[in-house]
Amino acid sequence: MKTLSFIIFSIIATSMCAMGSFTPGEKWADTDGRHINAHGGGIMYHNGTYYWYGEYKGDYTYRSPGVGWECYRAEAGGVSCYSSKDLYNWKFEGIALSPDTVNTHSDIHPTMVIERPKVIYNETTGKFVMWMHIDNHDYGKASAGVAVGDSPTGPFTYIESVRPNGQIARDLTVYKDDDGKAYLIYSSEGNATMQISQLTADYLKTVGTYTRNFADKFREAPAIFKRGGKYYIVSSGCTGWSPNEAEYAVADCITGPYTAINNPCRGKDADKTFYGQSTFVLPVQGVEDTFIMMFDKWNKVDLIDSRYIWLPIKFEGDELTVPWQDQWSL
Ligand code: GAL
Repeated sequence: MKTLSFIIFSIIATSMCAMGSFTPGEKWADTDGRHINAHGGGIMYHNGTYYWYGEYKGDYTYRSPGVGWECYRAEAGGVSCYSSKDLYNWKFEGIALSPDTVNTHSDIHPTMVIERPKVIYNETTGKFVMWMHIDNHDYGKASAGVAVGDSPTGPFTYIESVRPNGQIARDLTVYKDDDGKAYLIYSSEGNATMQISQLTADYLKTVGTYTRNFADKFREAPAIFKRGGKYYIVSSGCTGWSPNEAEYAVADCITGPYTAINNPCRGKDADKTFYGQSTFVLPVQGVEDTFIMMFDKWNKVDLIDSRYIWLPIKFEGDELTVPWQDQWSL
């Protein structure tokens, strides 16, 4: 009995110890010892702290009723926020955007889909702006939602969902460029084409024009970053929660045209993106030329238990690769 208590104590103590490395694809505990619940996430660096926003998934996964394709769902618990100074240890800051549990017609009711939230700070308005994919139980609504907050940890106030420039939107991300202009990048046209539209100065709307990228190539899960004046987009194919081959593309201008290069993943299961799907590329602050490729490793039958695969991006000239590593540190 004593031995058992000691083993249990050791497991708990180990899981709560400060971490100093990444173990891609393994369970990742927050500073309270709970698996991080921030899927399809994105990270904002603000005043010396990293904030990780993600889908806060309910603990029960089910097939969406009446939907023919493999539409696994968990209740939309809003958007969670975790903070960290070192990128290894994350403190749960609570739900930055709470679901509306009262109004069954709300975009952010738990029966809806709230995915891939990304937050950027607007220097002019002093507001934090969150964009996310908003959908209904069969993904037919295909819209982009926007919320605004006064603090990085929220609370964020939901404003509305739109079809940007009258176009459908599913997987999306936002990017704030060095000149303060921000852009919405979203899978559109039935997921066949990725559109990129600049946001208005307050980041709350799209400007009314867009470019069409990867036309008819069915790319989604966009993760964008800038290096040496060039823009890179890593994306996935369209196979729902199931993995497929990643691809990266490069452009001189954020709105394109993008030239598709190849699958940057290297190592075992590289052709399946290590069983992951792109969500964000994080520029590490204060370490020159260091970017972390963030993938979600979805567990479609137990979505809350989906894992995170964070790997360093390697560069050779303008070419990038993402080699697998079981464990690594910055
Ligand atoms: C994927 C998408 C995910 C989620 C999933 C639902 O294609 O990248 O964010 O929407 O489909 O099946």
